Order: sequence, then C-alpha cells, then structure tokens
Amino acid sequence: MNLSGWHGHRVRLLVTLVVAGALATGCGKKDKDTGGGGGSAAKPATGAIVIGHFASMTGPQATFGISTDRAIRLAIKERNAKGGVKGRQVELVTIDDAGKQSEAATAVTRLINDHGAVAILGEVASSLSLAGGPIAQKAKIPMITPSSTNPDVTDVGDYVFRVCFLDDFQGWVGAKFAKENLKATKAAIIYDQGQAYSSGLADYFEKAFKEMGGQIVTRQAYTGGNLEISSQLQAVKGSGAEVVYLPGYYSDAGTIIRKARDAGIKAPFVGGDGWDSEELPKIAGDAINGNYFSNHYAPEEDRPEVKNFVEKYKAEYQSTADGLAALGYDAALVLFDAMERAPSLSGKDLRDAIAATKNFTGVTGTFSIDENRNAMKSAVIVEYKDGKQTMAARVAQDAAAEKK
Ligand code: PHE
Repeated sequence: MNLSGWHGHRVRLLVTLVVAGALATGCGKKDKDTGGGGGSAAKPATGAIVIGHFASMTGPQATFGISTDRAIRLAIKERNAKGGVKGRQVELVTIDDAGKQSEAATAVTRLINDHGAVAILGEVASSLSLAGGPIAQKAKIPMITPSSTNPDVTDVGDYVFRVCFLDDFQGWVGAKFAKENLKATKAAIIYDQGQAYSSGLADYFEKAFKEMGGQIVTRQAYTGGNLEISSQLQAVKGSGAEVVYLPGYYSDAGTIIRKARDAGIKAPFVGGDGWDSEELPKIAGDAINGNYFSNHYAPEEDRPEVKNFVEKYKAEYQSTADGLAALGYDAALVLFDAMERAPSLSGKDLRDAIAATKNFTGVTGTFSIDENRNAMKSAVIVEYKDGKQTMAARVAQDAAAEKK
C-alpha cells in the first residue's frame, strides 16, 4: 500500500506504507571540560567526558525518561568497553525534571554549570525541550533531543538538534491513516492544551485531514493530569466522528480512551508517539484494543540494527525497548560520532560536528542532520490487539521523490 503525497515544508517526500508483521542519577565532575582544544594549557584533557541528560525520571511521563536514560547508559557502557571517545571514558549525569518546565530549565543549567557537561541529551516532551533549549543555546553547549517532535524545538537556535521526525509529518501520517486505512471522513480531535506537542499535532492532523477531503466534526481540549472530561466526551459522542485523533501523552490518553469507551464512544482512536509506553495498556485496560498510533520504530523490524539493539536492551534491562529507548540510543551514538570527528570538545567544534552528521545508520533508520538541525525519518503505525502492539504499518520517507 502506498502512502504518498506528503509535501512537508522542509522537503518533498514519497511515503510508502508497508503493512508489517505483528508488531539515576550519576555524579559528575565539577571541573569544566576544555576538550583539549580550549583552555590555556596545550595539554590534552583527561578524565571522563561528561554528558548531561535531563529527563522525566518521575512524574506523569516517567517511562519516557526512564527508557531514554536506560538506552543512553547502554550506549555509553558499550562505547566505554571499546575505549570510550577520543581515548577517554564517557560519563552520564542525569537530572530528573519530573516532567516540569521550570525544573527542565534548572536541570540544563546545573548540568552545564555544576557538572561541566560538554553536551546535553534531552528532553523527550517538546515543551520541556523548549524550556531547556534556550539555556543550552545561551551557554553554547550543544543539545540533542532524541524525541521532541514539535517543529519549534530546534528553532530555538543553532545549538539545538534532534534525531527524530517532526510533527507536521507525524500529523499527516495520522490523517492519511485515518482517511485511507480506516476510511474515515469525519474526525474528532481531543488534545492537551498545555503541551506544545499535543496542540501542534492536533493542528497538523486537522490541516492534513481537511486537505485530504475529510471533515473535523469537533475539537476538544483538556489539561494533562486533570481528566474531568465528560463534557468533551459527550461532544465527541454526539459529533458523528468515525475516528478520534488523540495526540496526548500515555497517562492521559489511557484514561481518556477508557472513559470514552465507558461513555459509549465506539470510533477507533488514533494517537501519536506520546502513546508509546508500556503503561498505556495497563491504564486503558481492554479499551486499548483496536486503536492505533504513529511511532518511531517497531521492535519487530527486520533490520540488523533493530535486532541487535532489541537483544542487547533486553539482556540489560529484561524488557522490550520502546521508541524512546531506540531514539535515546541513536542520539547518544550520533553524539559519540560527532565527538570523535570534532577537533575538540568545545561547544562550537562539537556543534559543527553534529551539524555535519550525514547518512547515519541507527536503530531508528538512516538519516542526516539537515540545515534546520532536524532529521528526516520514517514512521510506523502500531495497532493494539489483545493488549499488545501486534500490528505495525511502516511509513517510510523517501527523499528519492525529490528527484522525480
Ligand atoms: N514526540 C513527543 C514530544 O515531542 C515525545 C515522545 C517521543 C513521546 C517518542 C513518546 C515517544 O513531546
């Protein structure tokens, strides 16, 4: 099956939809790293290279931070076993932001000022990357968000990068799936008005769905964590919607889906990557079945990078790596690669090396960092069956379309 027609403002793409099978905190060093290139003395820097990670290790998006942190630590462990980077060991300092914007900004400040981080990894949630990004930018310390998909995140400045696709693409993928696969012409949207990620995706879905000839019959907002949403659900129920787009994070999404089914809403739900948590089916219960979401990778994919990573992650953590883990791992690998190529670990040299990342093959695919510091990637659509992510459709972006 072909999903073509994605005309993102950044690049024109041919999109192919393939139905696939079933689908801590460390302690850092206080001294600032000169990377051997800065400082007054010519002697090379020694000791561990500190990388900072700001993440929701607790709070309503805790599985995002935990999965990402585990994968980054796995990448570092493997790298250190092979001699580290530039002959030095790599050390990760993680600061928990509890999913709060104010704490995200503080975490980045502390990672840079107190721990001497040469680069920052994080955040997952777009609003938190939007809070932390300006701090890294101001300090001229490069930041790579593994998984923040809102387009505004990398517009913060030339030190902020990402290794995931963007929400204009992701919203389009959801709309195309709803329209062509679910054959829906009337869609309702329920989104979190407090999250840049959620409101952005709602807009991108709406735009794409309308362009495809569909109709948005109602658009309802909620505030994350506050799930008094019976009036919104009544509006959706009476709207005649054949599909409900729900671009929220997993804890809210799980509760909303369960309440929607209790309220008699029968239309399938389609969500975005924010659903990606093993907690989602636990929260939603049986109501999760028959719903779909777009994501960054599927652990069942046949590529050697995926198989290898899923195996190693399982051996280390006794669980299946989710999309957050896959992206966290790729972000760490992109950073190591850039560090190795950079003449020094100064913010400027490292920034330039990250910006020069081309044709990098990771767990989530092969990608380059473009002039807007973004990655062009493929997406998958996952279906919940029997409480499990059993079916996936792969949506590949193919830049070859540009040449046609
Ligand atoms: N893309 C989401 C955001 O930008 C975060 C996310 C990524 C959540 C991947 C789950 C999986 O806020």
